[in-house]
Amino acid sequence: MTGRLEGRVAIVTGAAGGIGAASARRLAAEGSRVVLGDIDADAAAAAAQDIEGALALPLDLTDENSVRELAQQVVTDLGRIDILHNNAAIQNDAQRQADLDVMNLDVAAWDRAMAVNVRGAMLMSKYVLPHMIEGGRGSIIHSASGFGVQGESTLTAYGSSKAALIQLNRMIATQYGKLGVRSNCMVIGFVLTSLATQSTPPVVKDILLSHHLTPRLGEPEDIANLVAFLASDESEFITGAAIPIDGGVTAHQPSYADFQKMFAEMGSGKL
Ligand SMILES: NC(=O)c1ccc[n+]([C@@H]2O[C@H](COP(=O)([O-])OP(=O)(O)OC[C@H]3O[C@@H](n4cnc5c(N)ncnc54)[C@H](O)[C@@H]3O)[C@@H](O)[C@H]2O)c1
Repeated sequence: MTGRLEGRVAIVTGAAGGIGAASARRLAAEGSRVVLGDIDADAAAAAAQDIEGALALPLDLTDENSVRELAQQVVTDLGRIDILHNNAAIQNDAQRQADLDVMNLDVAAWDRAMAVNVRGAMLMSKYVLPHMIEGGRGSIIHSASGFGVQGESTLTAYGSSKAALIQLNRMIATQYGKLGVRSNCMVIGFVLTSLATQSTPPVVKDILLSHHLTPRLGEPEDIANLVAFLASDESEFITGAAIPIDGGVTAHQPSYADFQKMFAEMGSGKL
């Protein structure tokens, strides 16, 4: 790694596992001090153990006091905040089973998705921004999703919350760019976290892969690569962007995979 984040302090929310833990590992490998915030404080502490100089702090994004306290604690302990990766989302089994199509949607699931995925990201931004502005620089990076830009038959609240996050990103970029703070959004496709690797049947992985333009599915480290770039000065002219990181899933015609299949069945090499 390059040490391009030497001297910086980063907060990663939802860092107990999956993409957040990979992001925290990568930011630390680039030289940053990293704070892992998660509602699952034990898992965040376990993840932090493997990362040099990392700190795990309890965080409940639905609770404004918890967010305010975490930001204050980071400044007290580490002196500054340069990077915020707004990565946490509520997407456990119970939430997924309640977050269905609109007619069957449990309204409480809608409220939870909005509270964690958007309101939580707004609160984190609200309480780190003054420290970033005081320190003269900042990079905020949001974990949005393809569900925020394309329709689906389920996960209504999740998708709507991610669409709102994409717009929150533009508002932050617009409001604080002249003060040295950038904000960018990753529009993430399917990622093989260890949970997804275990819980996704091979037939589903095959369907997903048929819609990718890449030879493989995404991994948490792919997302961490983009986080490190967006956190660094190499991306200093990029702000307000919503960057697809999905193996090209949202780049092609919806019929692409069907035609590929049809041509293969016809024995044609035509693309
Ligand atoms: N994995 C994918 O395929 C994928 C695809 C698109 C977008 N994303 C997005 O990337 C991010 C990370 O995804 P992941 O698959 O690693 O998810 P994950 O479920 O492993 O991680 C989410 C983390 O958020 C934490 N969290 C939940 N509620 C919280 C709260 N109230 N306060 C603080 N922390 C809370 C959880 O404890 C968990 O550790 C999410 O925003 C997700 O929507 C993931």
